[in-house]
Amino acid sequence: MDRMRRLRRNETIRDMVRENHVRIDELIYPLFIIEGEKIKNPVDSMPGIYQYSIDCLEEELTKIKELGIRSVLLFGIPAHKDEVGSGAYDEQGITQQAIRYIKEWDKELYVIADVCLCEYTSHGHCGLIRDGEILNDETLPLLAKAAVSYAKAGADMVAPSDMMDKRVEYIRNALDDAGFLNVPIMSYSAKFASGYYSPFRDAAHSAPGFGDRKTYQMDPANGKEALREVEEDILEGADLIIAKPAMAYMDVIKDISNNYNIPIVAYNVSGEYAMVKAAAQNGWIDEKKIVMENMLGFKRAGAKMIITYHALDVAHWLQEDK
Ligand code: PBG
Ligand code: ZN
Repeated sequence: MDRMRRLRRNETIRDMVRENHVRIDELIYPLFIIEGEKIKNPVDSMPGIYQYSIDCLEEELTKIKELGIRSVLLFGIPAHKDEVGSGAYDEQGITQQAIRYIKEWDKELYVIADVCLCEYTSHGHCGLIRDGEILNDETLPLLAKAAVSYAKAGADMVAPSDMMDKRVEYIRNALDDAGFLNVPIMSYSAKFASGYYSPFRDAAHSAPGFGDRKTYQMDPANGKEALREVEEDILEGADLIIAKPAMAYMDVIKDISNNYNIPIVAYNVSGEYAMVKAAAQNGWIDEKKIVMENMLGFKRAGAKMIITYHALDVAHWLQEDK
């Protein structure tokens, strides 16, 4: 008779039959870098997360390094915004400066630059605007210019999060033309118009000034459409695919994993982080157990890598349990 418990009797056999693992190498830690000096601002809706000015970054980088985290995802917060998001593609912009600083501090730390306009535009949308419409094609050259400037500053990888159609192809061509044939594109392919981004928008000062992002981000009701987004991005030259948010969209991760042979990245977003942190701070849940269970869920669903604000804690817990 089958008795499933035979393989659960002790830690050794459980460790041997375990199907999925969370590894430090697969974690990507987001960083918010703000223009200015001597700034370490806590983000209220994301306990444990701060905006850092470049001169205060060393403390955080040292922690990242000590814990064995090998990759960061950068979000720049400029002091000045305008209609066309100039700060995103200014060679002296905050993100470009941060990339140069980090690569100088430790060239081994793998730096991924988020590519979008919303942190840099006065209206807070991810693209250019005319008569209240977010323009697709007119936005592409600016995204490409931003991506190339990040590569020039030393970014190892770029990650477009704008959700304009055809931007992967446009960015790929621009990178190639500028000689960056070996800089991969990690595309936010299945990115939903989600309520789970609101703490991030506090952190990155990127909330839209009017309307919402429903004309360019995906409808949370659509799972099959996510596969079309992924397919297009792969054809356009994406090297890795992000699914975002992660927890309420595990089916999407699984579907991508069942249908495509490309590394999938789960973005465990700000609202998911905020919910776990709030419950943990109230003593209602065991933070370590819940976070590790969520990480395993992403892996089980088929994610190869995980972008998470919990990365430092996860790394710490993994070391602790070794
Ligand atoms: C910007 C961007 C967003 C996130 C990553 N890049 C916000 C948005 O689209 O409004 C969200 C990340 C998070 O919530 O942790 N395009
Ligand atoms: Zn954006």
